[in-house]
Amino acid sequence: MTMSELSEFSKNAAKKVDAVLDSLLPKEQDEPARLHSAMRWSTFAGGKRFRPTLAFLVAQLCAAPDERIERTAAAIEMVHTFSLIHDDLPAMDDDELRRGKPTCHIKFDEATAILAGDALLALAFKAIADDEGLECDIRIKLIAELAEATGTPRGMVAGQQLDILSENKKIDAVELEHIHLHKTGALIKFAARSAALAAGVSEPDLLAITEFATKLGLLFQITDDLLDATQSTDVLGKTAGKDEESQKSTYVSLYGIEQARMLAGETMDAAIASLSHFGDCAELLRQLARSTLARTA
Ligand code: IPE
Ligand code: IPE
Ligand code: MG
Ligand code: MG
Ligand code: MG
Repeated sequence: MTMSELSEFSKNAAKKVDAVLDSLLPKEQDEPARLHSAMRWSTFAGGKRFRPTLAFLVAQLCAAPDERIERTAAAIEMVHTFSLIHDDLPAMDDDELRRGKPTCHIKFDEATAILAGDALLALAFKAIADDEGLECDIRIKLIAELAEATGTPRGMVAGQQLDILSENKKIDAVELEHIHLHKTGALIKFAARSAALAAGVSEPDLLAITEFATKLGLLFQITDDLLDATQSTDVLGKTAGKDEESQKSTYVSLYGIEQARMLAGETMDAAIASLSHFGDCAELLRQLARSTLARTA
């Protein structure tokens, strides 16, 4: 299995989810046009579509057709984009660059950015509720799990609150892992679980996929911390060195770059180990974990 098979798969996944997003987001010219422009600005600014790719990979592993996961994949990307718009606000990380472009509140204004995030969040739940290709009980399960993964106490918003509270503070390894598992891990875990749930997999398979995605989510944020400290703004498409400037608690601030890299490697190994019972069928997911460790942006 080569890296290019995964990049081919990711490209396709991005194309599929972009088409669904385009069909679900309000048209730019419809009123309130400023709000709709802001939602589209951030949604189509050029994200990697990592979470949708993961969802499509798990769907393939579980033999679910794309139609069963594509709206949920779009919903996940809406929640993710909402989280980034709000993460970049002056009251939070105060960032002016995202996906190589001015952040939503810079391009538009703060009020519009807040509202664009709110509207994307609401639209995400509607996207799943209206997914006529899925049985009602599965839609309800997905909506409940997405709400849990997004909110508090077990979701992204809880992690973001703890992240903000941990600025200029020394926290321990357990607290830091908890933040990462929530602010970033919860939605990545949902991306994998949602595909498994839509496919109707067995409980042992669901557990293995959950374990894999939990480790993958942690790995994704450890590498995000490493990239912030080691990569250029140009390559990242977001301001490099921002974590140190804001005195964030990160894997780099707690462990240093070398040890953070080692922990990232161990986390990748643990992720891959949880796929053992799938055999060769899970090779692309293993490749996704390897490419997450190796990523440069
Ligand atoms: C950035 O996520 C924020 C984190 C949760 C680390 P991504 O690295 O997936 O950002 P995009 O979607 O590709 O811009
Ligand atoms: C973001 O973590 C997690 C979110 C839920 C958005 P960061 O604050 O490190 O993400 P970036 O580096 O701004 O993308
Ligand atoms: Mg942040
Ligand atoms: Mg940030
Ligand atoms: Mg970061």
